[in-house]
Amino acid sequence: MSWIYSNNDLSREQLPVNESLFSLANGYLGVRGNFEEACPDEIRSIRGTYINAFYDIVPIHYGERAYGYPQTKQKMMNVIDSQSMQLYLGEDSEPFSLFTGKIIRFERTLHMDAGYSERLIHWRSPHGRELILTFRRLVSFSHRELFAVELQIEPVNFHGKVTLMSSVNGKVANFSDHHDARVSSADEAKLSVMDCRTLDDLSIVSDRTSMSHLDVSCVSSIRLSVPCTRNIWIRKSSVETSITFLLNKPVTAVKKNIYTDSLRHGSQPERTGVNLHQKIDVLSFSELLKEQKRFLDAFWSISDVMIDGDSAIQEGIRFNLFHLLQSAGRDPFSSIAAKGLSGEGYEGHYFWDTEIFTVPFFTLTRPDIARHLLQYRYTILDQARKHAREMGHHQGTLFPWRTISGTECSAFFPAGTAQYHINADIAYSYAQYMRATGDLDFLEKYGFELIVETARIWIDIGHFQNGHFCIDDVTGPDEYTAIVNNNYYTNAMAQFNLNVAVKYYHILQKKAPETLNTLSEQLHLSPEEIRSWDRAAQAMYLPYDEDLKINPQDDTFLNKAVWDFAGTPDDHYPLLLHYHPLTLYRHQVCKQADTLLAHFLLEGAADIETIRNSFHYYEKITTHDSSLSTCIFSIMAARIGEYRKAYDYFLKSARIDLDNIQGNTRDGLHLANLGGSWMAILFGFAGIRITEKGLSLRPSIPLKWNNYSFHVVFQGKTLRFKIAQGLGQCQLERSGSLELTINNQKRTISSGETVTFQVNM
Ligand code: BGC
Repeated sequence: MSWIYSNNDLSREQLPVNESLFSLANGYLGVRGNFEEACPDEIRSIRGTYINAFYDIVPIHYGERAYGYPQTKQKMMNVIDSQSMQLYLGEDSEPFSLFTGKIIRFERTLHMDAGYSERLIHWRSPHGRELILTFRRLVSFSHRELFAVELQIEPVNFHGKVTLMSSVNGKVANFSDHHDARVSSADEAKLSVMDCRTLDDLSIVSDRTSMSHLDVSCVSSIRLSVPCTRNIWIRKSSVETSITFLLNKPVTAVKKNIYTDSLRHGSQPERTGVNLHQKIDVLSFSELLKEQKRFLDAFWSISDVMIDGDSAIQEGIRFNLFHLLQSAGRDPFSSIAAKGLSGEGYEGHYFWDTEIFTVPFFTLTRPDIARHLLQYRYTILDQARKHAREMGHHQGTLFPWRTISGTECSAFFPAGTAQYHINADIAYSYAQYMRATGDLDFLEKYGFELIVETARIWIDIGHFQNGHFCIDDVTGPDEYTAIVNNNYYTNAMAQFNLNVAVKYYHILQKKAPETLNTLSEQLHLSPEEIRSWDRAAQAMYLPYDEDLKINPQDDTFLNKAVWDFAGTPDDHYPLLLHYHPLTLYRHQVCKQADTLLAHFLLEGAADIETIRNSFHYYEKITTHDSSLSTCIFSIMAARIGEYRKAYDYFLKSARIDLDNIQGNTRDGLHLANLGGSWMAILFGFAGIRITEKGLSLRPSIPLKWNNYSFHVVFQGKTLRFKIAQGLGQCQLERSGSLELTINNQKRTISSGETVTFQVNM
């Protein structure tokens, strides 16, 4: 059962949420779980089809503009809608709708093991006509351009004429909500319909964006299993096909839609679409389903996390991993947007969320996908260099806080551009990938250059004061505190960034001296510059408070008044929707894990007593208004041995979207948190760390679980862990051996052998 997620809720509130939950995607193309048939207006459906990184450019309007403010931003576009399929019954054309007549049975299912969604409806029309309809849809993992829908129509008491109207509509708009900055306001981004036509029985619609001049095409076919008559109308912005047939036995209709765009498919995406359509035309819907299943079998064989004893969590975690897979871009143009391809929240932008919260899952289960995600940052490195110059830096690169094609899209610099830590976050995920894979080719081609360029920014913005290297006027991860000096997280991560730059210099010196020479020339690197990184890293100032024995979030954080939590009504959360930013900045109140996140990422940088004190201190003042927070608190509660608390935090993260815990799942899924829930199991309960010395483990298990198991791919080897109450075991699949650190002890594991270990409780 836990391979499927289903619900039959047709309430107004749940429907837009379901559209996100049942969204299907493959990293390239994403389709929200809208109904094929029309929906009454009061449902406030968000109808959407998206192509990862397919954007338009829109101006940013400021009341007052200052030097260096970005003037435009990118916005992921809602593209051509091919979902519509509307049934009309009988001579009087009675329309099918879930909001009229009587629903005898309704069930919606997401098949996470098989990669498709299904809607089963037993319906009696207001005129008493009874049908069983089954809609199944998939966004193919094998053919990234394909979105296919199969509709089975089974007559119960009605036999007669049926008309199926299918459309491909190029006139679409993005959703906006003026009351919520996270969904942005309506703006000028729009698609113009360039072409609507047919070719044989194919419907073809092509659109173009206004400012980025990107083209998108949809080539669509619809075929029936019985004889039918067909009429096609080419309208100004859509192609409509009406198909009439006699329903006296079950009938199947299959609609195949191929999406192509000018970023990936050359200047004539339409032509490529027609060719691609020809190729997949020979495949039946059940063959497409078989391909999906094969792909997902391979995915789950490594990436699944099995939980014995907690079916709600099992459902939650598989749902999260399925959507992570669906969202991950696999080409140089794309990454994982904050909401994946499931909705329009945050406008399809990529944040640090990818590197810190979602890449780890791929690094340790699908390093091939992790490599793609990391490569995306290399693609935009030149833009990031330009951004650094715009920001007045003489050297290095500064990655934009939020972007699609590489330029800064944040209009609110205190909680945007000021988050320089994104540079170190990206460098960190490069380093973790290198540690986990040993992929020297990646280091030579992309890694070294990016790490050098990110490191350089710290030298540019930092300065020495009383022998310490200090970094002023930045914002850390916690967006309820802005523009501060010596944010602990930023300084500690910058130190890491500088250290790995030095380290990789020496590695290349040993392992690939010629590449290093070429790169050094290209990057104008000198041994003196390397020494300057080392000096800054050694002298990095990391604030520490002697009384509280914690690392303060920044130089002035502890001087501020603590937020009046007792006097804050429950309905005033998230605080950002009820208080001016300055009110928040003046208080000790955190939106999300900040210092604690540094303690997690930089294992060993602080001692366990400091971490414990920090945990208890920051716990009291953190609202978790950001969905990036509870997973980190869960990991760190486990780190200090507070396992019950770890589980409580984990519960808030594991089903965040399934239970709409943040209240805004309608706008899309919280991708960072989805990755975070996986991290809470592997890095929290299992206590896994990817360290300089290899893989280490400090395993524990929640009381409620009988056992849990998962795989980890490390240095090209696949390890299988099963952790039960009291005792855990590990096996190495296939050949070879590997050294691990389990509960602080070095263990060597060879294939064919089972290593057992104690599990903390
Ligand atoms: C968080 C950021 C995050 C962004 C996108 C904000 O609410 O504070 O840390 O990057 O959402 O998920």
